[in-house]
Amino acid sequence: MKIAIGCDHAGVQLKKAIIEYLQEDAYEIVDCGTFSEESVDYPDIAELVAGEVLRNNNTQGILICGTGIGISIAANKINGIRAALCHNSFCARLAREHNDANILAIGARITGVDLARDIIKTFLKSNFQAGRHLRRVEKINRLEQKSCERG
Ligand code: RB5
Repeated sequence: MKIAIGCDHAGVQLKKAIIEYLQEDAYEIVDCGTFSEESVDYPDIAELVAGEVLRNNNTQGILICGTGIGISIAANKINGIRAALCHNSFCARLAREHNDANILAIGARITGVDLARDIIKTFLKSNFQAGRHLRRVEKINRLEQKSCERG
């Protein structure tokens, strides 16, 4: 599995730790930046990671900002993206099993490195359960189309 990962300036240290962790497990990493603590705008990073996820099959995204809120809001504006901000492993599992989330968002000012690793491990090993959840995800997709129609 390929992982596209990105963060704003608030998430640089956590991103570095997460990449090291994922490389131990031989995941292929696409690092979409940012690469320093100089201030950047999180929607730009959300767009880059979302693009990688949508263009490549079998790619999951990880987005990090200070709280995880802004970057997940931004990512969820993009059709086909289901970004879930998770503060614990229970939510990470259900985000995959029920919501078919394709991006995990984490708040670097909220979540420590060890917990972040645990959340990521759970997210990546969990699978969408489809069934009744498929109907609901399809309804999310139709909401996206409706908002396009409204302009
Ligand atoms: C940047 O200071 C901060 O606003 C950003 O990382 C994030 O927390 C926004 O939701």
